Amino acid sequence: MKYLLLLFAVSIAALSFSSFSEKKVVSFQQKSTPMTRGKVIYTQYCLPCHQADGGGVLHLNPPLIKTSYVLGSKVTLVEILTKGLNKGVEIDGDSYTNPMPAQNLTDQQVADVLTFVRNSFGNKASAVSAAEVKAIRAKLK
Ligand code: HEC
Repeated sequence: MKYLLLLFAVSIAALSFSSFSEKKVVSFQQKSTPMTRGKVIYTQYCLPCHQADGGGVLHLNPPLIKTSYVLGSKVTLVEILTKGLNKGVEIDGDSYTNPMPAQNLTDQQVADVLTFVRNSFGNKASAVSAAEVKAIRAKLK
């Protein structure tokens, strides 16, 4: 009987501890928004070339700071991410020679990363939704 009681007490303690720690994890989790998700995608997929501050690498990878591409047509942006780009863009009088490979991202990931880029590094432009990306991609193929 003593052992049964002890077992009971231990399992109650374990149960209350696990529900306590679960609550803690949830309350510390960062709220997921297009900007927070977009930043994670940017860090993984774009940062190696376009750099943490969006400044790019002179003559190799162009900057993403207030360029006509970043602030401009969503159709062009979705096309660049979906198909890549290899035409040698010129930005602020500097030419860039690296090709950009197509990015293997879902509609939602493209929407989030473009929303992040269009509203980071000093940029200010409208958000991009997954539905918009889907509609644009349907016409690309
Ligand atoms: C392997 C390096 C590389 C990666 C990874 C990469 N890019 Fe690029 N990106 C380039 C290069 C190089 C160009 C210019 C291509 C050209 O001149 O034809 C470019 C062009 C662009 C442009 C148009 C030009 C400008 O600077 O405004 C945008 C927008 C862009 N990239 C966004 C992104 C985003 C967003 C990601 C991540 C999802 C990404 N790129 C990933 C290398 C890269």
